Amino acid sequence: DNCKSGCRGALVVLEGLDRCGKTSQSARLVKNLDELGYPAELFRFPDRNTVIGQMISSYLNSDSQLDDRTIHLLFSANRWEKRSLMESKLRNGITLIVDRYAYSGVAFSSAKGLDIEWCKAPDMGLLAPDLVLYLDISPEKASERGGYGGERYEQLEFQKKVAKSYEILRDASWKIIDANRTVEDVQEQIRDIVLDYVKTCRNGKSLSQLWL
Ligand code: TYD
Repeated sequence: DNCKSGCRGALVVLEGLDRCGKTSQSARLVKNLDELGYPAELFRFPDRNTVIGQMISSYLNSDSQLDDRTIHLLFSANRWEKRSLMESKLRNGITLIVDRYAYSGVAFSSAKGLDIEWCKAPDMGLLAPDLVLYLDISPEKASERGGYGGERYEQLEFQKKVAKSYEILRDASWKIIDANRTVEDVQEQIRDIVLDYVKTCRNGKSLSQLWL
């Protein structure tokens, strides 16, 4: 074990519009890190495997209707129910690659017209990511990709609003990745950025809380 005490995994979040390629990039990233000898695991929000996640899934498939604030709070609760598990994995030296996080929560709900500060409040105090990678693609281009249109939010006009919300949320710590390039190009760029952060976290960077 070359991991000294205080050494932890990195919390890396991938964000972006529907069909930006996050999900396949997240899986490749976990594999790349593992192969390089850095233990990594994939998390994904919504996590549809829990009771709350099933309520979310049913809403997204339009099998149920929920008030905008209700679904917002369920998405947030779905992250809170994973918080302690995520923390213990990080402290055990495992890097977590997270496909969507609180930024999706705020971007999608505020695109419906909910107040942005109201949207942020329930996620305050979650683990703060060490790195946010934003896979940047135009809403038009994303809508041309396969599999688009199946779920509730996968509509061009709505995704344009989501893109605007993400612009408001992003800060200097985000890395903006051009997601129009080939899967391999994107993969290499992401891997190199993430490796830097993994090494920094192993050297003892402390965990902090989101939006506090
Ligand atoms: P996801 O499972 O990533 O979608 P995909 O079918 O593209 O793999 O996410 C489902 C949808 O939920 C997506 O449109 C984004 C939205 N979402 C929210 O509105 N709020 C949230 O907090 C999260 C995590 C996702």
